[in-house]
Amino acid sequence: MSMRRSVVVGCGHFLPETILTNAELAKRVDTSDEWIVERTGIRERRIAGEGETTSVLATKAAQAAIADAGLVPDDIDLIVLATATPDYTFPSTATQVQAALGIRHGAAFDLQAVCSGFVYALATADNFLRAGSHKRALVIGAETFSRILDWTDRTTCVLFGDGAGALVLEAREGEGTIADRGVLSSHLRSDGRHFDKLYVDGGPSATMTTGHLRMEGKEVFRHAVTNLADIIEEAFRATGLNADDIDLFVPHQANRRIIEATARKLNIDPGKVVVTVEKHGNTSAASIPLAIASAYGEGRIKQGDLVLLEAMGGGFTWGSALIRW
Ligand code: ACO
Repeated sequence: MSMRRSVVVGCGHFLPETILTNAELAKRVDTSDEWIVERTGIRERRIAGEGETTSVLATKAAQAAIADAGLVPDDIDLIVLATATPDYTFPSTATQVQAALGIRHGAAFDLQAVCSGFVYALATADNFLRAGSHKRALVIGAETFSRILDWTDRTTCVLFGDGAGALVLEAREGEGTIADRGVLSSHLRSDGRHFDKLYVDGGPSATMTTGHLRMEGKEVFRHAVTNLADIIEEAFRATGLNADDIDLFVPHQANRRIIEATARKLNIDPGKVVVTVEKHGNTSAASIPLAIASAYGEGRIKQGDLVLLEAMGGGFTWGSALIRW
């Protein structure tokens, strides 16, 4: 039976120029390249410059994705932008991007699920496209986490970086089988009881400040591997696919040890795992589209490949998605 699918037709990214290495960080806080690499796999991260706001990074990633799709901005009628670091409390960063792209029709909105934001945004756009209300969506993950870090706290400031990535999804008719191109499944979860394990200690309503990121790293790590394995197994059960069917595994890039432990637990071949955390750090909602763009740029994704995404972030929120490229 024919079924509408959201097919990936374009991919783009943008990284700020400034690189902050572990050695430079070790001059600011009591840490070392050795500690950071051993515990996280991170070697360097990008830092947005003055004026490089989340919407600026997002617009550049979006322009690259639209060009890669062979489209023009007017072809887009939906923008879903995942971020935890919006330019302003309101209006949404997505509407800033819409304006910068010169789009005057359709809808644009932000989505907040911290590091799971891209998987949430992809699932949301997929539902809009499959419902038939929109034809082509830009799904963007963009962050400037450097702006909400406490640069005196070595337990958090070494982990994060800035950047943006975007996909263009287009509604097309498929056969309704797992051989179809497009988003084949998405599974989203949240459990708000874990607020204080990963949060920002400020906000317009609670404190009237922006605040800084706070995290109980060990606790986040403990929950991450279990939750991620569960939500991937759910995707496999729902589609009848398994680890051997996956061509590329693109996890949220928080920590190399979490990525490797999750892949091991699910018997995913290490050669299929995309790891960019050493160069980008954790870029929250931007990490998955940045990792996809990196693999795509290296020619590691071909049409027809099955790509598995997963992420977990503050809330907690977590999710998985299967895409046939
Ligand atoms: N440099 C040197 N030493 C450090 C640093 C640092 N940057 N940070 C912490 N330490 C010290 C600690 O103070 C502690 O010292 P102590 O034993 O004297 O008290 C020691 O190193 C060990 O600290 P732990 O926190 O136990 O180290 P752990 O092995 O758990 O690694 C880490 C910490 C890397 C944060 C790990 O727990 C982790 O990756 N957790 C998951 C984090 C994550 O993925 N967060 C993102 C989620 S996504 C989102 O929504 C934003």
